[in-house]
Amino acid sequence: MELVIVAGGLGTRLRPLTFHRPKALVPLLNRPQVLHLLDGLPDAVDRVIVAVNYGYEAVRDFFRSADVGRETVVVKEPEPLGTGGALKNVEGHVRGTFAAFNGDVIDAIDLEAFLRFHRRHGRIGSLGVWPVPDPAGFGVVELDGERIRRFVEKPPKGQAPSDLVNAGRYIFEPEVFHFIESGREVSLEREVFPRLVVEGLAAYRYEGYWSDAGTLTTYLVAQAVLLDSGRGGIAGDSDTARASIADPVLVGSACLVEGAVGPHVVLGDGCRIGRATVAESALFDHVSVDDKAEIRSSLVGAGAAIGEGARVVDSIIGDGVQVPPHARLADARMKG
Ligand code: GTP
Repeated sequence: MELVIVAGGLGTRLRPLTFHRPKALVPLLNRPQVLHLLDGLPDAVDRVIVAVNYGYEAVRDFFRSADVGRETVVVKEPEPLGTGGALKNVEGHVRGTFAAFNGDVIDAIDLEAFLRFHRRHGRIGSLGVWPVPDPAGFGVVELDGERIRRFVEKPPKGQAPSDLVNAGRYIFEPEVFHFIESGREVSLEREVFPRLVVEGLAAYRYEGYWSDAGTLTTYLVAQAVLLDSGRGGIAGDSDTARASIADPVLVGSACLVEGAVGPHVVLGDGCRIGRATVAESALFDHVSVDDKAEIRSSLVGAGAAIGEGARVVDSIIGDGVQVPPHARLADARMKG
């Protein structure tokens, strides 16, 4: 069976980190985000098809050199075709019942159990659904038992028909391709699902964890969820003897850390953290943070340097950016 990963969006909400790399390759816990989707796949998945527009070459090159334990085909879209058009574009690579995952979601779905559910229901498609406290802004489903009655895409606050949202995890029969026009941009969520509801779509509720990772806020939630599930740790060749660590954290290789770090902090390889404070943030490889600086709820790109006494909150700092000493950044997007 094929797993199609829809991973070709522009990732505008993670800019400037996505100016030079596709969202699929943005590090999450020091691994390209897309690799988290391949953890624990059942043997039933013998081929992974990655549907990409933006950043095709980088994704292709990555999968050429990475060993992900199964055949991987990276398919280029000539132009962005949207989530539905991206599926239609890989129709020729799909041989039967297939799974499709949004590339910017991490979760603990058991694909084998999902497949059993799909077979039991015998519908054209099954959708993973996940409960969230505030479904406004998500794709919300209204159910009749385990059958989807209606989709409400991004309802205003207080007007969602349920707290269950489309989790971006699907299993389809190949007949789904009859419902997607070729050669144009098609939204799976807005155009295809309303048509499929008439045919019959089943909703699969599952356990564990789930988070979107496509915005600063949700990226940090996804990171926290993964760290809370036990994926933290400190590389043996990193020096944290003078640091004050609040777990969970993940510290990459060859880091020197002296300040207060954590909770929910990820440091890439080769980071230098002076007597500074870092909390609820991700710093990619080779970031340096000088004394008395403070970083909270932020993403800092590879090779960036945060000057002494600078304060960075709710911000995304691009690769290689030098934040001057004593700068004050809140809700900022800073590129080099
Ligand atoms: P933003 O620009 O920040 O909205 O991100 P995005 O372009 O990735 O869009 P969105 O988060 O809505 O996309 C959901 C999933 O579909 C992500 O995994 C995207 O990579 C993917 N996606 C969105 N549009 C396309 C497209 O035109 N082609 C392909 N192949 N994937 C897409």
